[in-house]
Amino acid sequence: MSKKTVVHFLEQKQKNEKIALLTAYDFPTAQLVEEAGVDGILVGDSLGMVVMGGENTLKVTMDVMLYHTSIVTHAVKSTLVIADMPFLSYQISPEDALRNAGRLVSEGGAQAVKLEGPVSKYGEAIEKIIKCGIPVMGHIGLTPQSILELGGYKIQGRSETCRKRLKKEAKELQDIGCFSIVLECIPSDLAKEITESLDIPTIGIGAGPDCDGQILVCYDILGWGKARFAKTYINARENMRESFSLFVNEVKQGKYPEEKHSYS
Ligand code: KIV
Repeated sequence: MSKKTVVHFLEQKQKNEKIALLTAYDFPTAQLVEEAGVDGILVGDSLGMVVMGGENTLKVTMDVMLYHTSIVTHAVKSTLVIADMPFLSYQISPEDALRNAGRLVSEGGAQAVKLEGPVSKYGEAIEKIIKCGIPVMGHIGLTPQSILELGGYKIQGRSETCRKRLKKEAKELQDIGCFSIVLECIPSDLAKEITESLDIPTIGIGAGPDCDGQILVCYDILGWGKARFAKTYINARENMRESFSLFVNEVKQGKYPEEKHSYS
């Protein structure tokens, strides 16, 4: 089966077909997410919180991202895998940014990278990565790597100045060559305006229904999500908790293993 590429994203926008993305960080989840028919998997640095239990994403390193990205790319057959560039992997210098993006592709097996922030800060880095042939997904609005500066996980783009800035940032990310842009936690009407003004697809998370696509952290649809935009489709968290306690109880009561679980 041929790999999906970033070109499909652009075609989907042109055809008005919604784009569905999920994050995944491990082998079985990546396989299930692929079987569900997603258009792409993001190995997000959100793993710093949902896998590693951190209070933010700032402790995620390149080594951690490479480890999870190679597990996910090993698990899937045809799904586009986008790897997040972690904190300090692109902020220090454009050369560093290119080296790290290159590692996510050559060692991790990703087909694209995502990085947070505007062209006014990271334009040179983005340009260098794209010139080398690595597709870049932008990310604006609530950018978790700037959490110390933002002062919390708050909705962005409420004031007129901020709305103008975000519209400008989106246009500049398109013009520099990003293949799509994540819009995180901004008002729906602003996301709609940005989406309608761009040729490249917008992927929303907490940005309303009018983006070209949607992304959620896989655990946010499985019962772990607390944010307003999270939706629990099946409470796998409860199912897991129940399975674990059933096992513990059966072992304590001598009910497990039965003969069928044992070797003669
Ligand atoms: O790290 C991540 O998972 C993300 C998405 C939620 C957009 O950046």
